[in-house]
Order: sequence, then structure tokens, then C-alpha cells
Amino acid sequence: MSAASPPTPAVARRGASLSGAIAVPGDKSISHRALMLGGLAVGETVVHGLLEGEDVLRTAAAMRQMGAEISKDDATGIWRARGRGLGGLVEPADVLDLGNAGTGARLLMGLVAGHNFVSVFTGDASLRRRPMGRITAPLTQMGARFVARGAADGKVLLPLTVIGAAAPIPIEYALPVPSAQVKSAVLLAGLSAPGQTIVVEKEPTRDHSERMLRHFGATLDVREENGVSRIALTGQPELSGCTIHVPGDPSSAAFPVVAGLIVPGSELTVRNVGLNARRTGLYQTLREMGATLDIGDRREAAGEEVGDIHVRAGTLVGVDVPAARAPSMIDEYPILAVAASFARGRTIMRGLGELRVKESDRLSAVARGLAACGVEVRIDGDDLIVEGCDGAPPGMAPGTPAIATHLDHRIAMSFLVMGLASRQAVSIDDIGAIATSFPNFLALMAELGGDIVVGHA
Ligand code: S3P
Repeated sequence: MSAASPPTPAVARRGASLSGAIAVPGDKSISHRALMLGGLAVGETVVHGLLEGEDVLRTAAAMRQMGAEISKDDATGIWRARGRGLGGLVEPADVLDLGNAGTGARLLMGLVAGHNFVSVFTGDASLRRRPMGRITAPLTQMGARFVARGAADGKVLLPLTVIGAAAPIPIEYALPVPSAQVKSAVLLAGLSAPGQTIVVEKEPTRDHSERMLRHFGATLDVREENGVSRIALTGQPELSGCTIHVPGDPSSAAFPVVAGLIVPGSELTVRNVGLNARRTGLYQTLREMGATLDIGDRREAAGEEVGDIHVRAGTLVGVDVPAARAPSMIDEYPILAVAASFARGRTIMRGLGELRVKESDRLSAVARGLAACGVEVRIDGDDLIVEGCDGAPPGMAPGTPAIATHLDHRIAMSFLVMGLASRQAVSIDDIGAIATSFPNFLALMAELGGDIVVGHA
């Protein structure tokens, strides 16, 4: 189902406890990067466990439009990319449509900024609302030029044209916002520049680009001093095709994990979840809330830590989540806010300004959705404050309009999980966006015993 299809509502109801063991699809961040670097490297890249969500398929299509050979072996499920070599991408003959994928659009803009051709980017209604100035600012310093919509209002919005730099300039760039997408865009442009491209980040964001660039043979020097990281990439490396094992996405695992904690009597396992320390803030927070959450069989797969997460339902208590933790759980606040609604006492989630520019304005979407489910919630500046119900929240009173998901997969999945444990059912207006990151979400939740019905209540 595409996010642009007619809306398909769904309703989730409290039923029996959840149980079983599942594996969630591959990590979205790692999957995008595997296809991009595989399409740039010389030789063949073999990808096991690629996320076949709409966002990643858009990146595959865009890389193909620029000359990379990318294919799936249907018998094994293995994906292969044969790259053009650094600098070898060709001008796309048509617009690059990244759909709902912010990561796809922003990282690819970095990639093409160092290629001497013209490309045009667009996306769905959600992506066309998201700010691109954070990407075009450093890439302009590197020599790329942009013509974008929104300029009259001082914004930079898709559709947007990139005129790649003929001679990209290496820069040193201090991230003004903690964003792995901005960091990655600068590093990907820096691949085409001579000398060192340096990104300085005050708050550690996900480091999948750094790890994967090294895996493909690039040289990165990372220094940390007083909590500030200085990431120096040596430009114009030889990138060689390699094998990648994509771990399960911790941001997708978050939904069954929280469901297992809040549906009374549940006990379940999510296998093979990526546990990169820059992604696991939610799991740390849930433990602080008193969750029974154990990680078994910790191991390493292709430079990323993975493990099996086992949870058992029980009482949660409200906590104060510091702003410094936001980058390590930036995509998990909607589902944490759902967990907080079931807790005893107040949960304060601090420093969530970045949530306003995700697939939707998640701060207001979460607050409105929780309020519609009878939860006391407020936004104070950039903080979200949830008064826990000490057990199941009321859910939606009859006649309440379905939760508006605004083309946002994580809002859709969070409120379906909420409905699995609330006293009354919770309905959402559209499941379409779920396919961007977690195409088999409904099937896996059904396998665990969750009662989610597609269609009107
Ligand atoms: C991502 C970085 C984060 C995250 C997004 C994926 C990435 O965005 O929200 O889902 O793969 O680099 P920001 O860099 O905007 O924080």
C-alpha cells in the first residue's frame, strides 16, 4: 500500500495477552546507506536482511536512475548492488521521487552534491513539508547550488533542483542541530572532495554512516573531546563492494516491545535487534520505568551489535527523560509517550523540538492523539508531559474521530499499540504510511495475538 493511496483506517482492541517470538524487518537507516554506498562502490555489494519498506525501495529506484545496478534474488531474499565507482553516477533522466523518505532524500542530496550534474528531488505531501535548508546550507558551502520551493518564506522545500559541484570543496561543519541526516549528507558529499571533510557534533547521533563508510574502505578519523566528536573523512577514497548483514530495526522493534509491556499478561521476544548504543535510548528509558526487559544473545554482525529483546508486562512508573538522550531515541518518543500513558505518575520528555519536523509534527500529533484517548497530556515549550493513568487509559469514547496519522508511520503504529491495551478501542485514520518502514507490522502483531482490524470499527 502506498502512502498516496486512499486512506485505509484500522482499529485496535484490547484482547488476550501477547506472546511469541518474532523478528522485525531490517534497519531502515542501515538499509538506505547500504544501497547508496553499494551503488557508489566498485564491485558487488551483497546485502542480507535489507528492509523492503517503501522508503528504502525509493532509494533503490533513485540509485538505479543514476546508473547503479540493484537487484533482488527472489529465491534467497538477498539484494545485490553493483556500483559505478566514486564519481561514476550519471545524471538522472527524470525527477527523483523519494516518497515519504527524509533519510533517502537528504542523504542522496549529499551524494549528488559532489557529482557534476543536475538532479531534481521531490516526495510525498509529508516530505514536501520538511525543512531542507539544514542540508542545502552545508552543501552550498561545498560548491553545490540549489533551486528550491519555499524561498519566498525563507524556507527550502521540495521539489528542489541540485546542481552538483564540478569541483567539490572539503569543509569543516559544526552541526547546528543534532542530525545524523545532516552529518551523513556532508560526509557523502565529502567523498567526492579532495582532502578532509570534517563534521563536528556536540551531541552524538547515530553513526551508521561512519561505520559503513569504513566497511567500504573509506578512512575516517573520529576524535572525541569533552563530549564533542570531530569526524574527519579523507575524500576520494577507493570504495569496494562488500557484504552487509542488516540487523532488525530497533525503532521498529519498539512497537511490539512496548505492546508486550502494556498488554496485561504478555511475554514476548523480538529477535536480532540492532543495539547500536546510539539507538537504544528507549530501552534504557523503559528499564528506568521499571520494565522487565532483558537482552539475550548479544553478538556482533557486520560491525553492529545485535541481540534478542525479551519483555514481560508489568507496572511502569513515570520518569524524567533528559534532553541529552533525545538523539539516541529520536524516533521512539511517540511509542514512549504511549508507554508513559500506562505508567504510574508523570513522565516528562525534554528537548523534543526536532519532533516538530519529522514525518509529521509528532509533538502535536502525539499530544492530540493521547488527549483523544483520555490521557492528560501537555506540551511545555519543547517538552512533552504525560500524566500516567496507573494502568489502562480510557481509550476512545464512542464517536471520537479516528486519530489523524498525517502520513506518519510511527504515529500510526504507536496508536494501534495504544489500542491493544486501552479500556476502549483506538482507531486511526490511515495505515498506509506503515509500509514505509514496517511492511509486515499488522501480520507480526497478529502473530503475537494482537487484535487489529483493518477497516472501520
Ligand atoms: C535518520 C536520522 C534521524 C531519524 C531518521 C533516520 C538517519 O533523523 O529521525 O528516522 O537514518 O540518519 P535526523 O537526522 O533528522 O534526526
